Parts: sequence; C-alpha cells; structure tokens
Amino acid sequence: MQIVPQTLFPSLVWTTLFDDREGFNAQMLELAYQLREQDPDGVANSNVNGWQSPNILQNLPEFEDINRRILQVCQRIGESQGFKPGTRYRHQAWVNISPPGAFNSVHYHANCHFSGVYYVSLQAPDCGSIYFRDPRVASRMLTYPVDQATDFTTSEVRMRPEEGRLYVFPGWLEHGVEINHSDSDRVSISFNVLAGSFT
Ligand SMILES: [Fe+2]
Repeated sequence: MQIVPQTLFPSLVWTTLFDDREGFNAQMLELAYQLREQDPDGVANSNVNGWQSPNILQNLPEFEDINRRILQVCQRIGESQGFKPGTRYRHQAWVNISPPGAFNSVHYHANCHFSGVYYVSLQAPDCGSIYFRDPRVASRMLTYPVDQATDFTTSEVRMRPEEGRLYVFPGWLEHGVEINHSDSDRVSISFNVLAGSFT
C-alpha cells in the first residue's frame, strides 16, 4: 500500500545571497548609521531596545540600490507564483539597528503580499535567529508525539541570519527575531511589498 502525501497551502520563505555583499554592505551600513544620526528617536514598533527608522527608504535616493533589489526579487517571486504580466510592485522599507540585548517581538505585516528583511551586518552565531510561527492556527491546539519535528509537526522554524542574504515571506506569516546576544549591532533593512495593477 502506497500512502502519498500532498502539500496544501505551503508557507514559502525565499532567500537570496547577494554576490557583491561585502562592498554593498559597507555602503548600506554607513547609510544606516547616518539615518539614525538624523533621527535618533526613530519609531517604536516590533524592535525592542533597538532603533527603527520610519518607513522612508523608498523615498531616499541614497537607498536606490537596495530599493531596486527588493522590488526585483519580489517581482521574480511574483512571476514564479503566476502573478499577472504587467503587475506592479510597490514597497516601503526601513532600517533596524538592534544592539546587544535588542530583539523583535512576534508580529506580522498586514496588507502586503510580501515582507522581508536584508541583513547588512551581524555577528554570528549569537546575533539571534529569525523565527517563523506556524500559521495553521488550529494546529496550535495540540502537540505531536515526536522526538524530532518534521515540516508537518513543527510549530516554529528558526533561521540563522546571514550577512548579505535577503529573506522574503508572505506578510501574514508571523515572525520575530531573537535577542541579540553578540557584542555587535545587528543591522538590517526590512520591507513590505504590495503587488497590483496600480496606475
Ligand atoms: Fe517583520
């Protein structure tokens, strides 16, 4: 007897590593700290004990390069999922500077098709992982009798961030970032992307 599983409603997380990350990150890091100097208070959101800029990177010419890359990656992902030809992509992006002790509490991003984060600078392995919670809410009512979780029985997935890697996931997928236990700032750029037939 052959028992055949099928995957329904998968939660996809896409990642890509930039080839030119070394030089690119040096440039992004400088811009990130400049932005904080201009607005030391930033905004209060999911970043606890850290600094977060307002959602303004999409309007700043100096961030044109990362803005373009975010849109390019999300367009490729949209195309891979059958988004209509001619679909336009709009985004908002912001900088996170998380010093030792800072973390991002669990949250999701409403009203966007994709969310994501690009890691500019971090100290591995203690800078804290990004983790995703099982969106199958009813599945949280019980645990499975397993020693080792599978993709099906797990309730949380952790990914260790990597400098120069961009992560994209559906905005509805709950996520957070662990406490930065390293000695250095964890610097990242986060974004939301909406796709549609905008005029
Ligand atoms: Fe987020």
